[in-house]
Amino acid sequence: MQEATKNIYLIGFMGVGKSAIGRRLAHELDAQFTDSDQAIEQQAGLTVKQIFEQSGEATFREYERRFVETGHPASGQVIACGGGLAVQPGMLAQLKQRGIVVSLFASEATILKRTRKNKQRPLLNVENPAEKIRALLQERSPIYMQANVCVATDGRSINDVVQHIKRACEAMNS
Ligand code: S3P
Repeated sequence: MQEATKNIYLIGFMGVGKSAIGRRLAHELDAQFTDSDQAIEQQAGLTVKQIFEQSGEATFREYERRFVETGHPASGQVIACGGGLAVQPGMLAQLKQRGIVVSLFASEATILKRTRKNKQRPLLNVENPAEKIRALLQERSPIYMQANVCVATDGRSINDVVQHIKRACEAMNS
């Protein structure tokens, strides 16, 4: 990937595959892969779960905002964004100014299956995660749908989704 190649931001709900797909996409494009949660954890010296527990969600959202505004290179990156990052007011517009925004989608059932075992996501550490997923999806989907590119992932291989994203981004870069 050349220096001036636009960043690609992967957004979408927890468990839709942003990290796995982003890693593969970055590899194929010879770009650098960054995960916003990991970048924030490194900067804070705490896990996402610890930030939520010790300082609350608002502080974590502030970390996300700083990551977008000043915390990552302006080009040559594939960035997997935490599920709530693009949902904060004004953030999607900022991402679109900085690069191509690709939204990944999966069904409630797939999301539930993929997130069930991982206890590192504070928003889903609740008595009824299915209900929480449904409510958050309802609230967030209209925002996710405003991305430059929307991709359904259910029943598709990582490779299939990556090729889809590559074609869509090539068309946007040309
Ligand atoms: C969140 C998603 C998580 C992480 C945090 C909050 C959200 O990232 O940023 O737990 O609000 O959807 P992933 O989407 O990578 O799981």
